[in-house]
Amino acid sequence: MTEHIKIEHKDHVLTLTFARPDKKNAITNAMYGRLADALIAAETDKATRVIVLRGEGDMFTAGNDVGEFAMMATGAFKGERHVSRFVEAIARSTRPLVAAVQGRAVGIGTTMLLHCDFVVLGEDAMLSTPFVSLALVPEAASTLLMPLRIGYARAYEMFALGEAMSAKDALQLGIANRVVPLDRLHAEAASVAARLAKLPAGSLTATKRLMRNAEVLSAQIGAESKCFAERLTTAEAREAFTAFAEKRAPDFTKVAG
Ligand code: COA
Repeated sequence: MTEHIKIEHKDHVLTLTFARPDKKNAITNAMYGRLADALIAAETDKATRVIVLRGEGDMFTAGNDVGEFAMMATGAFKGERHVSRFVEAIARSTRPLVAAVQGRAVGIGTTMLLHCDFVVLGEDAMLSTPFVSLALVPEAASTLLMPLRIGYARAYEMFALGEAMSAKDALQLGIANRVVPLDRLHAEAASVAARLAKLPAGSLTATKRLMRNAEVLSAQIGAESKCFAERLTTAEAREAFTAFAEKRAPDFTKVAG
């Protein structure tokens, strides 16, 4: 499964690409593992001065693989879960993180952007966090970072109603730095990464450390993870995952909260 994350290193820029376009780059446990390893290794690799996150195909990522959520809910999933390692690693990364987003960024596809330092969106980008629609709770410290970034009212609406936010709105609300035509997306992200790679790395790291409190983020991630794990095993979540597999809308009125 490791081929679903492509890792390239060039001119001091590490590029991590979600490469599972037939499944809309939905992220599996194996993919989280490879992403976490790459982010952790970058911390001690002096040759990595900037990290770019991007996706192949028509969307950034459809978020966590819902089939794996279903397996976790029933206990069928065995082995180490790498999502927590990935979330901790991205929250603690001291390297400048640049994201290039086309099409949809769902769930963790959007919440990981809150940990990125420079977000470039294609004009067609649509950000959404439908955790409640799946009977789950938001993760990756987004319950802290999203209200801080866009205000409580908008953040609650995004989490509860799960509606997608346009690139234009994401720019206006401060989730993104730039919106560019789709055919310029990757060139723009590469150009930003190249500029950052030439700046004094020590100063960038110190600036980021002052701007982001990793301990506070980690505590929030811990609280969310506990709640998320509890939610995964509820009847509501089972209905959400079954509905996804059966390609129908869930009916939460028939299950108790
Ligand atoms: N997990 C697992 N598989 C996924 C997936 C996900 N998160 N998102 C998409 N896929 C799969 C689909 O099941 C489908 O597989 P199939 O071809 O074997 O049937 C394939 O990817 C293409 O998806 P499709 O739904 O046909 O594409 P679309 O362009 O019509 O819609 C989305 C794209 C992202 C809007 C839609 O796939 C979707 O809502 N996905 C779920 C997103 C989600 O809830 N993520 C978790 C957030 S916490």
